[in-house]
Parts: sequence; C-alpha cells; structure tokens
Amino acid sequence: MLGKASNEGTMNLIQPPVHDVFQTACDLLAQDKLVGIPTETVYGLAANAWSSAAVEKIFLAKGRPSNNPLIVHVASVERLSEAVKLPLPAMLQQQLDRVVDLWPGPITFVLPRCMKIPDRVTAGSDTVAVRIPAHPVARTLLERCPFPIAAPSANRSKYVSPTTAEHCLAGLGDHVELIIDGGPCELGVESTIVALQHDGPRLLRPGAVTAEVLASRFGMTIEQLTRSIAAAPRRLEAPGMIREHYSPITPLHLLTSDGCGQILPRTGRIAFRPLSPAESTRYEVVETLSTVGDLDEVARGLFAAVRRLDQLGLDQIVVDTCDSTGIGRAIMDRLRRAAAAHNPD
Ligand code: TXA
Ligand code: MG
Repeated sequence: MLGKASNEGTMNLIQPPVHDVFQTACDLLAQDKLVGIPTETVYGLAANAWSSAAVEKIFLAKGRPSNNPLIVHVASVERLSEAVKLPLPAMLQQQLDRVVDLWPGPITFVLPRCMKIPDRVTAGSDTVAVRIPAHPVARTLLERCPFPIAAPSANRSKYVSPTTAEHCLAGLGDHVELIIDGGPCELGVESTIVALQHDGPRLLRPGAVTAEVLASRFGMTIEQLTRSIAAAPRRLEAPGMIREHYSPITPLHLLTSDGCGQILPRTGRIAFRPLSPAESTRYEVVETLSTVGDLDEVARGLFAAVRRLDQLGLDQIVVDTCDSTGIGRAIMDRLRRAAAAHNPD
C-alpha cells in the first residue's frame, strides 16, 4: 500500500466536495481521524470536538502547545448547546442577541462551555470558543455530523494559515486522511474572536467582522471593545494573541512611511497596489495583491503570497502596511506577528 508521503498517496488526499465525500469525511471524523476542511476564513484541521482522543491528534499534528484552546464549529444556533452551556446568564444572552445574526460567518464567540466538550479542547478553561461558519462545504459537513467539529487553522503551529487545499497538504499531509477542496478561501484571515463576559464584550482577535461593526452593535467605543489587546497583549486570554505567530521562515519586515531601510540583494515585496516600474526593479520578485489597493482583496491574497515568497529562499520579504481600521486591523495584526518573529522586542 502506498504511504501517505508518496506523491500518489498525497494527491489522493485532496477531494472535491461531491456528495459521498461528505459521508466519508463524517465517517472518518466519527473514527477520531483528522480531515482538512475549507471555511470562508482559512482551512481548518477538523476533529470530532466531543472526542478527547481525536482532539489530541490535532495538537500532535500541529505541534500546538496544549495551553492553546481550539475553536468548536457548530451547524446552527439551534445546535449551540452541543458546545455551549445553555441557558446563558441573562447578561451574556443580551450580548449575544446583539450579534447572533452575524452567524453563519467569520466570527467566533467565547461563551461558557458545556460538559460534553472535553478539557483538551478548551485547555481546561470553563469557556469555549464557538463559531458557525458560512462556507457551504463546512456547513454541509456540520449538518451531516452528529457532533460539533473542533478545527484550528490547518497549518503547523506558528506557520502561516492555509487558504487553499494545497496549503493544508503541504503542512499537514502526513496527519490527515482527507482534505476537502473548497477552492481558495474567500476572506483569507482567521475569524474575529469576541469574548462575551460579565464585564462586557472584548475583542480578542480582529478579523473580517470589524471592530467598528462590533463596537456599534454593542454600543461601545472601539477602545472599550479592544481593551484586552491594549492592556494585556501577552496574557493567554486568547493565546492566539501571542505575538510570534503566522511567521514565514524568511525574515519579514513591514514597510513604514520612511521606506524599508536596507534592501538586501534578494528581497521579495508584497505590495497592496501596483508599484511603479522604477520601484519594481529594486526587488527580485513583487507580489501585487490588488490593482486598486482594495484591502478585502489584500486580506484574501496575503497568506498565499507570503507562502509563495517563502518558497524562494529570499533574504527577506518586505510588505506594505495600511491603517488599522476596518479589515486593515486584521491585516496589520497578522503582519505585525509575522514580523515579530524576526524583530523580537
Ligand atoms: O477562522 C478561524 O477561526 C479558523 C477556522 C478554521 O475556523 N480557526 C482558527 O483556529 O483560526 P485557531 O486554532 O488557529 O485559532 C483559535 C484561537 C486561538 O487564538 C485560541 O487561543 C482562541 O481561538 N481560543 C480558543 N478557545 C478560547 C477560549 N476559550 N478563550 C479564549 N480564546 C480562545
Ligand atoms: Mg491558527
């Protein structure tokens, strides 16, 4: 029998989302196996969220520290009790009522956890991060499965998140039984994470559902909503907020308004809009993410561009920056972490 490491074996791992693939995926998950799945944000490494044994395999496959809890995906609000302790305290229910229509979508809420979710998923916390994804493939699979699905981004811990089935294969091909190919992810950055709690909601990770939208929904200022980030960036409130995450092997630097300083001989540039021909010639390779500087397009293409440049053995990658507003907040958050690995403070 062909091992998974062989070419033929790995290529067969990626399957289009046709009818019987959903049943196969469901069966594999029920047997505590891992499956790569598309979502509208990034690809996830899926396991049965009710099975400690299955979830354990996620930590092993990713090389993920055991104190970093996982997001649990459920099919619908009606099935929220598969992950969350209901009824919610009135205060939390009022907060959820203001934002629940953002589901299905790229937003995760941290809520009290129900006892069917093992400690391994939540890293022992009495809260669980829960999301109802909008991607049709993820939704169909969740509807088919009689259990919720734990799924972190399908990359090795600390590497760039995957936005295609091929990215999943490259990082975790030896650990999954199947990768469902849903095409490139529409949004390209991981979900927004908001903790709903007694002292008010807090933004733990910026994403495509923007801080501006959330602040308006909750009747708060952005400063109030993001207070955890400003006040305690290194606390393990969302261990994904630890700075050294999402980094390529190649040193990555952000282009500030005073230029990028030294240009090394083999520099790759990620531009948010087209460069002038004169500027382009300064780089060995240029990845242009949008023809008009559209930040949604930038977010969609960013991780794939970082991964492509990281394959080239360059001396460094330099990347454009944008204002930390709207989707720009998520873009700058991910870029600062990618750069932090090489510029430790
Ligand atoms: O878009 C996404 O959210 C993707 C797709 C696959 O759904 N998933 C994803 O998972 O980004 P992951 O594991 O890469 O990031 C999960 C984040 C981590 O920062 C983790 O610390 C945080 O969620 N988290 C999980 N449970 C938590 C909890 N109970 N309290 C606070 N943060 C939590
Ligand atoms: Mg991740």
